[in-house]
Amino acid sequence: MPEKEILVKTRNFPYRVLIEKDALSVLGKSMRLLFPSDRTLLVSDRNVYNFYGEQVLKTLKNENWQVVNHIIRPGESSKTLSLASRIYDAAVNAELDRNSPVIALGGGVVGDLGGFVAATYLRGVPLVMVPTSLLAQVDSSIGGKVAVNHPRGKNLIGSIYPPRLVVIDPHVLETLPPRHLKAGMVEIIKYGIIEDAVFFHWLEENLDLILKGQSQLIVNAIACSIQSKARVVEADEYEKDYRRILNFGHTIGHALEAATGYRHYLHGEAILVGMHAALDISTSMKVIKPAVAGRIKKLLSKINLKKAPTDLTVKKVIDKLRQDKKRLGSEIIFVLPDQVGSAIIMPVSDENLLETVLKQYLNTQ
Ligand code: GLY
Repeated sequence: MPEKEILVKTRNFPYRVLIEKDALSVLGKSMRLLFPSDRTLLVSDRNVYNFYGEQVLKTLKNENWQVVNHIIRPGESSKTLSLASRIYDAAVNAELDRNSPVIALGGGVVGDLGGFVAATYLRGVPLVMVPTSLLAQVDSSIGGKVAVNHPRGKNLIGSIYPPRLVVIDPHVLETLPPRHLKAGMVEIIKYGIIEDAVFFHWLEENLDLILKGQSQLIVNAIACSIQSKARVVEADEYEKDYRRILNFGHTIGHALEAATGYRHYLHGEAILVGMHAALDISTSMKVIKPAVAGRIKKLLSKINLKKAPTDLTVKKVIDKLRQDKKRLGSEIIFVLPDQVGSAIIMPVSDENLLETVLKQYLNTQ
């Protein structure tokens, strides 16, 4: 019996998220109960596969799965159409059929790429997400966003294709570097700020212990985050409007990542800066009371802000914000918290305000 089991109800079918210590060791059995096939395609990256490949192959073979592996180079540069095409070759050569699941064992890159292949091979085969980073466990493995990058931008080619099963083994976090764990915690706190005031209050009480590695508390934080994301996705699976609140901190966060060539910040680190900045904007625009913004910032400040590189200017960041605006054919949209556990989505056109806020988080003008 899993420690926690969450059901995500999508338009077409509900899927289960299992959170269970040692879930990796019983993956073959969890899948056997769901899929009438004897073949599966395992997509992973070299780092994750070195840690967990053997354990996963063993459970799959014990349940008589024939496994085809495709191991990619770690990192965002692997999220391309040409790499997806090589994975299609592996799937065709192994004669995988409509019932043969694709397993994405890894972090966000593996989930996006493996998910994209699952969404498109034979017009869609079952997808099993086995996220191994905290960020992927609480965000990218839930909700069905899958994509590859285009040379002109991240995630430009993709779809919403929900998984059939998500399997989370909290043990895998033990091999995650502390920097990555903290970056993942940023997305966890996000749910408390934008959607779940009770969870926010719980984090105020428990974040210090979580950051010290208290495993039962981490499991609870992961479960609350997934429940929060599930509520948002169930309300607006295809991101017509409300789902955009999940982008809290991402407007400036994405611009920082793009302006630094995706090399300086981990995703969560850039988003943390973006959350602080969005709170400043929200306060300036009188969307949130200063005392409430201060309470949220107090919790956020338990995770140190990563310093910007010395050559990152306000102009470079604003240019990236403008490019995004052009690409989306819209205004610069921000998610602004209006109280604890709630946020609104609104355009911000005052570039002086953006410059003033950004200056506080950069070392140069
Ligand atoms: N990561 C944001 C979303 O799934 O909508």
